[in-house]
Amino acid sequence: VQTNLTPLKSKYDFTMGCAAVYSDLIDDHAQLLTHHFDSLTAGNEMKASSLYNSKHELDFTTADKFVDFAIANNMKLRGHNLVWQSQVPDWWFTTNLSDPDNPKYFVSKEQLLKTMKTHITSVLQHFKQKYGSKSPFYCWDVVNEPISNSHQNNGIKGLDEGSKWEAIIGPEYIDYALRYAHEADPDMKLFINDYGIVNDGQKTTDLYNEAKKLLQAGVPLDGIGLQMHIDVDSPSISSIKDAIEKFGSLGLEVQVTELDVSTGGKTDAVTLAKAARRYKQLFDLFESEKKYIKVVTVWGSADDGSWLGANNSPMLFDTALQAKPAFNALVQAA
Ligand code: XIL
Repeated sequence: VQTNLTPLKSKYDFTMGCAAVYSDLIDDHAQLLTHHFDSLTAGNEMKASSLYNSKHELDFTTADKFVDFAIANNMKLRGHNLVWQSQVPDWWFTTNLSDPDNPKYFVSKEQLLKTMKTHITSVLQHFKQKYGSKSPFYCWDVVNEPISNSHQNNGIKGLDEGSKWEAIIGPEYIDYALRYAHEADPDMKLFINDYGIVNDGQKTTDLYNEAKKLLQAGVPLDGIGLQMHIDVDSPSISSIKDAIEKFGSLGLEVQVTELDVSTGGKTDAVTLAKAARRYKQLFDLFESEKKYIKVVTVWGSADDGSWLGANNSPMLFDTALQAKPAFNALVQAA
């Protein structure tokens, strides 16, 4: 790891965040995290499926290591996430586990709401009680990826897109989740986080309408997380700018929560230079939108750990943890 580099976090006004998995905290990636970033997100370890043991009991051992790391290194933590249709325990949605030949897949609405409330409350209160005023958490993705890609159910994902929450509880599961979270931790900033909402498409409009409806109903929503898993070429900077301003104009904080830029399988010098220009344009946009954008989080420190695979060269550091042209474009000219 190059320890002589200008810290990325010193170059921009917004908080600079990075996602990490547990092994990153105990190997060389830890130096990248602490040198360049102010904020940490657990890539998987705070998702519901990671928090329960085989006896269906909560186990915060690994999640707490992120909190300890953040405190030890003076970083803040983004909580990710409380309610999602992926990486959740199957048994939440099944009533009859003892008879595998006759599984009953759907719980009642009341039962699932109870499960949701218990989960949200237990997670938020665990960290609050264990860490008190030292807690580094400043926001949580309460609902992750609720918006439909195909504009069904007024824009809320249904069962055919995998959301058992919506299928069993109805689209108002979002309202319930945010209200439960607010009840459990009234000071926490609460977010809806989604992908594909920086294009000028129907999905962006659907989330905008949903957020507006929630705010009008007095539901505690503080911000929108723009995941921003994007390509070198699209979407355009101007449509990303429009989306930021659209959500910001609702009075919501906007965070970039999972940024990566896929090169579509190319790693040659010309493509890396193109990705560098793209990163620079994006960060210049975020800086010019700092009225709304308070945090920018990249979804991983180096290419070796990216969920997209190193062949898509999505991150700021390469597989040897060396700074790429994209990193240099950000620290040199900011
Ligand atoms: C990804 C993780 O990075 C992977 O390790 C895991 O296998 C799947 O999930 N949207 C989200 C993140 O909100 O939680 C996802 O993270 C990436 C897409």
